[in-house]
Amino acid sequence: MGKNLLELKSLDVSEIVSILDQAQAFHDGEVFRGLEGRIAANLFFEPSTRTQYSFNVAEVKLGLRVVSFNPAGSSLQKNESFYDTVKTFDSFGPDLLVIRHVENEYYNQLLGHVNAKILNGGDGTGNHPTQSLLDLLTIRQEFGHFEGLKVAIIGDVSHSRVAHTNFEVMGRLGMEVCTSGPEEYMETALNYKPFEEAVRESDVVMLLRVQHERHKEKMHLSVEEYHRRYGMDKQKLSWMKDGAIIMHPAPFNRGVEIADEVVECSRSRIFKQVNNGVFVRMAAIKRALWD
Ligand code: NCD
Repeated sequence: MGKNLLELKSLDVSEIVSILDQAQAFHDGEVFRGLEGRIAANLFFEPSTRTQYSFNVAEVKLGLRVVSFNPAGSSLQKNESFYDTVKTFDSFGPDLLVIRHVENEYYNQLLGHVNAKILNGGDGTGNHPTQSLLDLLTIRQEFGHFEGLKVAIIGDVSHSRVAHTNFEVMGRLGMEVCTSGPEEYMETALNYKPFEEAVRESDVVMLLRVQHERHKEKMHLSVEEYHRRYGMDKQKLSWMKDGAIIMHPAPFNRGVEIADEVVECSRSRIFKQVNNGVFVRMAAIKRALWD
């Protein structure tokens, strides 16, 4: 009964579609009362606004009680380890642990050692399953299907768990995914295309933040140069196909990968993605604790 959600690559397409269907039902107003009074602990060892607080809202909408964790005020400051911190929270007896941590596949060390179900809120540069699911829900609402759509993921691809998760799952769903951006952030296996070509031919242009906190070396380009070459602005927006949309997992940096005037332009689905995050996370929680 109930399932962790750690990576999308271990879910088959029918499981992914069934999470999206449940998320869509929550979006359309379905109410579920079976989890009222259960306890969730949200353990974000890395900063987060959207993922952390939309999980919180999703939990509240399902009637769960929520314990939040503040790393700066915890015994991490006394050198307690990640594992021991999670094990401590699990010993409080919650039903659900939502975890984000800087280490790729941090969950492998927890499996078999915790009783609560685990939902992955992001591991290092590896996986971000609920972000991908909300991206997929947003795309399905827009186009009604996945097969044959062209997606360009643009920016700091190599440090992005969003890019890695989406590239894999979108391909499996029949979308044609390419990546673009500064050479220093490209990965050979991820179907590179020159920026202008990627923007011109795609149905979905997904922009990424430059994730400086993950970089070993300073970015070679200046912020101004990045914006001039790879930042979506009004002029580059005009290259896009009819009906094509802009997405971004956020946080976005205005004036770097996206110009001010593009953030809320008619092609942008950025805040729609945020809204869908609540419903996708409700579906992930229901799957973890009920289905
Ligand atoms: C992303 C993340 O943390 O992986 N944001 C998110 O969860 N919506 C992307 C980022 O930090 O740039």
